[in-house]
Amino acid sequence: MSVKEQLQAMKEQAKEQIKLARSIHELNDMKAKYLGKKGSFASIMSKMKDLSPEERPTFGKLTNEAKQVILEYIESQKEVIELAKIEAKLQEEKIDVTLSGRHFPHGHLHLLTQIKRDMEEFFIGMGYTIKEGPEIEIDEYNFEKLNLPKDHPARDMQDSFYITDNTLLRTHTSPVQVRTMLEDEGKNPIKIICPGKVYRRDDDDATHSHQFMQLEGLVVDEKTTMADLKGTLHAAAKHLFGESREIRLRPSYFPFTEPSVEVDVSCHNCGGKGCHICKQTGWIEILGAGMVHNNVLRDSGYDPSKYQGFAFGMGIERIAMLKYGINDIRAFYTNDLRFIGQFK
Ligand code: PHE
Repeated sequence: MSVKEQLQAMKEQAKEQIKLARSIHELNDMKAKYLGKKGSFASIMSKMKDLSPEERPTFGKLTNEAKQVILEYIESQKEVIELAKIEAKLQEEKIDVTLSGRHFPHGHLHLLTQIKRDMEEFFIGMGYTIKEGPEIEIDEYNFEKLNLPKDHPARDMQDSFYITDNTLLRTHTSPVQVRTMLEDEGKNPIKIICPGKVYRRDDDDATHSHQFMQLEGLVVDEKTTMADLKGTLHAAAKHLFGESREIRLRPSYFPFTEPSVEVDVSCHNCGGKGCHICKQTGWIEILGAGMVHNNVLRDSGYDPSKYQGFAFGMGIERIAMLKYGINDIRAFYTNDLRFIGQFK
């Protein structure tokens, strides 16, 4: 085989083989195989010494050209490999923008929180301030200063969770009223609401829960009357159950108010004609209220000959149950999303 033929054969073989290189590493192997010290090209070059001086320039030209061609093959395969690398990376990082998004469920406020906030806003609009107090309370504030001395039979109305002889989980939010009156040392008028959790040793059933929420109000001033109480509660009832609601007051008993009343609102379901919700009476009991008892005013530093006050207390669960026709109070506390999710 002439040198020319050998070179031609080498070029052809190189063309085929270099095309098969799939990585830079394989390509370097090819480069070594053809152009390295012990490669095919070197072995052809070694024949130079056997040639006559006249033959050498042609030989040189041919070999140079062959070397150049092989280098070009390598260069162009290098580009191919690099492009393939980029392509593979693009494939790997491909994002399908047409894929529909994952659903992240949104939470929302619990119905009781919604009602509490709605009531707070209503009373703030009437000039009230929100007051909060501890859920672990001393007997003195939960009972004694509310005209309920230790042996008072009315303590049975609110079965309690005692922690020690003198501390208990508050059975109502009224102790916050005591705290506020004591803070003001009988000097300033008071107009507050106290929303919060309360606890009673009841057996849980459809209408009883050992933990529930109350919202109480207290107004103390020099010219506060029962008419103010009635007007306030009528406005609250209309806000909660609709503009055409009426209220009526029935005499009742609470140790901390005198006189005490139970407040009924005309039924929002039947408008007063009588239905299953109002048990055919046309009226629904929604809260307890009254004029602050003289003993309560006096025990917390207010002079009853100068100051009068009214107070009212309602259960937030009860309001929610009436408004939305919920018939089991336990539903608020069992965290079933099928229930909770209905009140977005
Ligand atoms: N504290 C009373 C209760 O929990 C409710 C109430 C508050 C009644 C204020 C009258 C005045 O039963």
